[in-house]
Amino acid sequence: MKQVKRVNKAVFPVAGLGTRFLPATKASPKEMLSVVDKPLIQYAVEEAWEAGIQQMIFVTGRSKRTIEDHFDVAFELEHELVNANKTALIEVVRSVMPKGMNCAFVRQPKMLGLGHAVLCAEHLVGNEPFAVLLADDLMVGAPPIMAQMAEQFERLGRSILAVQEVPLEHTKRYGIVAGEMGSSGIMQVTEIVEKPDPEVAPSRMAVAGRYILTPGIFDKIRNQPKGAGGEIQLTDGISNLLKEEAVYAFQYKGKRYDCGSKEGFLQATVELALGHAEVGPSFREYLKTLAL
Ligand code: UTP
Repeated sequence: MKQVKRVNKAVFPVAGLGTRFLPATKASPKEMLSVVDKPLIQYAVEEAWEAGIQQMIFVTGRSKRTIEDHFDVAFELEHELVNANKTALIEVVRSVMPKGMNCAFVRQPKMLGLGHAVLCAEHLVGNEPFAVLLADDLMVGAPPIMAQMAEQFERLGRSILAVQEVPLEHTKRYGIVAGEMGSSGIMQVTEIVEKPDPEVAPSRMAVAGRYILTPGIFDKIRNQPKGAGGEIQLTDGISNLLKEEAVYAFQYKGKRYDCGSKEGFLQATVELALGHAEVGPSFREYLKTLAL
């Protein structure tokens, strides 16, 4: 069978509780929090689209309505904007779902962990490679991070994890990989561990929320026991996958904001606002007036 080397589908696990953002996430998913004027999930979908991916698969949980509504035609809103002759705004609303983009939704009935969330999308992904994007990691790069990864995938044809170097004391927050980093920023992964203590971490290379995975991952997740925190971990599935086929880590070029934490979210808001065409210049002037 010919190996597929193009990624056409992206999975967005958006079923988490987002407890670090309560009460904002009481009735609305964390991924609908907005940085300047766009919800986190839209940044991630745009990143996938710019990598040539057209089929978007959302794994949702409770309070899923807003995400489904966001990626749907807003008929009444468009009608009002047409009547008011607000052409530019109509374009803004329609640009959320450009022509050719396809959205599908699947429910994760119980929050059993990220690996389980990915497994919930199996019937929509089928037997082909797919991307996974965690929208609470807002990634900024030129070209966008997923496009950088898709380019590597066309060459390697195997699973690729986006990684970045983190301070040793932060290894406990991430999946950590081991291997020998090549000059092109690619490393074949020999080991991956979920949230290790600094003393036992195999390196400081941490997995960010971007993956391209081969469909072999599904069987691995299905047959694994619960891992760290009692959850069905994606990291454990990847750890089993790399015993059978090569898995690569890719040190991407760009910046990651951890928008699952308040501090990362605020950093993203300030930096993206400063670079925003409409509000950037005046916001910069405003910041100068603050006696910090
Ligand atoms: P997090 O570890 O950030 O968990 O999940 P969380 O529940 O969203 O947030 P906190 O820690 O309570 O504040 C990482 C990603 O995996 C998804 C989340 O939606 C998030 O995008 N996820 C996690 C699921 O979709 N299902 C799960 O069972 C677990």
